[in-house]
Amino acid sequence: MTHSYKPRRSALYMPGSNARALEKAKTLDVDCLILDLEDAVAPDSKATARDQIVSAVSGGGYGEREVVIRINALDTPWANEDLAAAIKAGPDAILVPKVNTPADLQQVAHRLALGQASVGIKLWAMMETPLAMLNAAAIGACGRDPEVRLSCFVMGTNDLAKETRAQLNPGRAVMMPWLMTCVAAARAGGIDILDGVYNAFNDLEGFDVECAQGVEMGMDGKTLIHPKQIEACHAAFSPSEEEIAWARKINDLFELPENANKGAIQVDGKMVERLHADMGLRFIAIADAIAAHSKA
Ligand code: COA
Ligand code: MG
Repeated sequence: MTHSYKPRRSALYMPGSNARALEKAKTLDVDCLILDLEDAVAPDSKATARDQIVSAVSGGGYGEREVVIRINALDTPWANEDLAAAIKAGPDAILVPKVNTPADLQQVAHRLALGQASVGIKLWAMMETPLAMLNAAAIGACGRDPEVRLSCFVMGTNDLAKETRAQLNPGRAVMMPWLMTCVAAARAGGIDILDGVYNAFNDLEGFDVECAQGVEMGMDGKTLIHPKQIEACHAAFSPSEEEIAWARKINDLFELPENANKGAIQVDGKMVERLHADMGLRFIAIADAIAAHSKA
């Protein structure tokens, strides 16, 4: 079994209104950039931010980094112009906030088709409303519909806290059912999922703990708000040397003639099945993709 993998360990938000940040992004060692027109941009700055994002993305210079434009929500006065601008700029993806139902994504996909947007432009969906939590499976299923082009979920934990009134506290215990529901919905739809942001960007210890939790939950990466969060995020979301060594070891063992007809073997006192070897292949593919990415 082969795995193709695109590193999405880190996705750094930056306000489209901040020209300096858009420029600085070209030098940051980050997998994805989310150029924001929504929450990080004040109403009076929306038009300037839109122009700056179009010229930054059209101008290029972002190398291997995946460039994503977050538009304003569909029920705002800015959404149409944001979408037209994003189609013109040609990012890798458009991130749609406040998605409530599959119809929201279908509507954006329809407008992309009408605007003759390049098929290379994918959709990402913010999962951040109470309805999105209740409709997660149906929204995730858009990942199986090529016309919708959905390729990633992004957890919007700040909005989710606001809309549900659930508190976003260390450990995120009360958010866990929603986070894990979205992980399951993403996997069922065959798409990636990125964890929410950690607001206290100077608290690197708390950030490490939350990254580790994201890894444990099965998140593919985490959204970030500040460049100082990148390094720890990559350390957390890259397979460790031990994980890679273990993956190689168990795959080598299943290759041995004496194990050719076995479904489960014993390794260092643990039961190992072929599914574990397959999980290991995924780790190896991730590590290879990260190595190729950092060379590019
Ligand atoms: N992307 C790119 N560069 C960033 C950045 C980001 N998200 N956040 C900070 N920087 C840059 C600053 O421009 C500054 O660069 P400089 O030294 O070349 O001037 C440097 O990093 C240090 O910034 P710092 O002084 O520590 O932070 P700040 O007070 O300027 O900004 C925030 C703090 C929170 C306002 C800023 O980090 C930010 O805008 N984050 C993203 C917010 C966002 O997009 N939210 C929406 C989704 S949750
Ligand atoms: Mg938001």
